[in-house]
Amino acid sequence: MRKTVKIMALILALMMAVSVFAGCNSAKKQEAAPAPAPAPEKKEEAKQPETKTDQKIVVGLSLPTQREERWVRDKETMEAEAKKLGIDLKVQISDNDAGKQMAQAENLLAQGINVLILAPHDATGAAPIVDMAHKAGVKVISYDRLVMNSDVDLYISFDNVKVGEIQGKYITEKVPKGNYLVLAGSPTDNNAKLFREGAMKYIQPLVDKGDIKVVHDEWVKDWQPSEAMKIAENALTANKNNIQAVLAPNDGTAGGVIQALAAQGLAGKVPVTGQDAELAAAKRIVEGIQSMTVFKDTRELGKAAIAAAIKMAKGENIESNGKVNNNKIDVPSLLLTPIAVDKDNLDKVLIDSGYLKKEDVYKK
Ligand code: BGC
Repeated sequence: MRKTVKIMALILALMMAVSVFAGCNSAKKQEAAPAPAPAPEKKEEAKQPETKTDQKIVVGLSLPTQREERWVRDKETMEAEAKKLGIDLKVQISDNDAGKQMAQAENLLAQGINVLILAPHDATGAAPIVDMAHKAGVKVISYDRLVMNSDVDLYISFDNVKVGEIQGKYITEKVPKGNYLVLAGSPTDNNAKLFREGAMKYIQPLVDKGDIKVVHDEWVKDWQPSEAMKIAENALTANKNNIQAVLAPNDGTAGGVIQALAAQGLAGKVPVTGQDAELAAAKRIVEGIQSMTVFKDTRELGKAAIAAAIKMAKGENIESNGKVNNNKIDVPSLLLTPIAVDKDNLDKVLIDSGYLKKEDVYKK
């Protein structure tokens, strides 16, 4: 009997041991079970960047041309900056065609841009682009050139009256008396008016005094160098080459004028102004056939525009340092400072700043 009890006790002990072991095992399984659980949580975390604030910012850029070096630089700077800051920049070039610029802007808006950077070919003709953008909830930065008669949100440029003042001061100091050929830029570009206004502050008083005679005064269609050349050729012929100074509004037109002067053996004898610090102009300054240019650091302008576009897209406040009226509103503006350049400071201003390379400027 005792033996039977002992055996039963042994069996019971064995059964308990088995059940405790099995319990431990299932407890281990339960402990292990939560391990895969974090996976769905991680998935949810990965989804979060899709919320609006973290979406990639898309900026549209509409430029008037790539035929002038400065606009090539503007594009390059903005593309590099956009890449650096991780935004998507969609670029369109309108080839000095207002209709094309409108169609391209429509296309950019259809692609879902957050902000539009617009350098208008036609200052007033571009106003409907601003309306169209606003209807789509997209803010517009007027880049370098002001969009007139519009509710454009921000203007980023240089002090353009100052650009003209630099040109006017320079040429009147060099040639205080004599016959002047006065050229202005494209009549569709508000900047052209501002440059002229600035330059005439210096020229007009000397005209009124009788020291300067403006023998020919004309706007250059689309800023074309070939147009400027034709105008200069005709003015030289009409005045039997009796012209002592030329106000050329930018380096492109200066190049056209200098070709006309060269054909008459007058290159280097008649001072000519310019603007943009193009490589070709810097070479002409070194050669002595163009008197000066105005340096507007497009690297700074491009960076400022991209920074402002990003802030706009995020709904943040934008830095400005003035207001410019566009015949409709006072547009909050950020205006950078232009610098006069001639052979005396060319190396310091253009080469030391890395804008132009010494070997390019001095290459024959
Ligand atoms: C710009 C100049 C440029 C001209 C022709 C103006 O609006 O400010 O830098 O030379 O257009 O493209």
